[in-house]
Amino acid sequence: MSDIQRPVVRPRRLRTTPAMRDLVAETELAARQLVLPMFVREGAGEPVPISSMPGVVQHSRDSLRKAAAEAAEAGLRGVMLFGVPERKDASGSGATDPDGILNLAIADVVAEVGDALVVMGDLCLDEFTDHGHCGVLDAAGRVDNDATLERYAEMARVQAAAGAGLVGPSGMMDGQVAVVRAALDGAGHEDVGILAYSAKYASAFYGPFREAVDSSLQGDRRTYQQDARNAREGVREALLDIEEGADIVMVKPALAYLDVLRRVADAAGEVGVPVAAYNISGEYAMVEAAAANGWIDREPAILETLTAIRRAGADMILTYWATEAAAFLR
Ligand code: PBG
Repeated sequence: MSDIQRPVVRPRRLRTTPAMRDLVAETELAARQLVLPMFVREGAGEPVPISSMPGVVQHSRDSLRKAAAEAAEAGLRGVMLFGVPERKDASGSGATDPDGILNLAIADVVAEVGDALVVMGDLCLDEFTDHGHCGVLDAAGRVDNDATLERYAEMARVQAAAGAGLVGPSGMMDGQVAVVRAALDGAGHEDVGILAYSAKYASAFYGPFREAVDSSLQGDRRTYQQDARNAREGVREALLDIEEGADIVMVKPALAYLDVLRRVADAAGEVGVPVAAYNISGEYAMVEAAAANGWIDREPAILETLTAIRRAGADMILTYWATEAAAFLR
């Protein structure tokens, strides 16, 4: 060798073989940490593909049950359900109709899988309103926080009665977790938990979701969802939700907010509250589109994405790849 100084410390020693790399790996990714979000469409007919989310469909009630059984079989422990109603109106009445599609779907999945999966319901009005907002509007057309809370309270009671194990308030109304907790307790559903969408940002990456739920949103959600420039505020929202009784707090989206996820995980960890992250529709679509073009290698890209979200502090991840990723991890 020439006169270079030969290194004494060699981190590469711990990368020499797969066994060595496994031995020192810091982050575990397991099927039990993955939650599958699913869409279910009202009315008869076959499942409808969502073009901006290749591989994801609006389920029929039958295909939903089948997909839930497959999710349980694959080792997942939870599913999150979204309803796509046939008719929408100003107050989102389908959301609180016990025979509305989301509530029927919750009961269907519980009947199918029993307690093999934690069945979660998205608790928000945007899938059900004709204006597409997450709440009801006041006379001036603004989203009315406190009138919306009354709708969420009713939605929580109906989802719990249908058998939901966790409800997921995702509308970013102030005080929503406290109101949902009180509504559940008041109806004897003390054991139904709250997965709070706590730090939820106004994001361009929700694009494909709008197709997934046939959203008719005009304008945007910036008066209630958070501004991408704010990280401290995400921690504040999570701490408020914990005070209000959230059992699990969530950060959403995941990839463009891994710093927020880390900070929320640290803060929630201090008080022992588990943290979830939502790997959302646009994040899914980006990987699928690039992979379909042959620009990236799909399976490693999926696993790297999910590993990064775990590494940033998520105890669990909502991801449209959940069932498939569980198979990769076998
Ligand atoms: C609100 C809700 C949204 C998503 C989950 N719950 C849409 C929004 O807030 O605009 C987005 C999920 C995704 O993009 O994958 N009901």
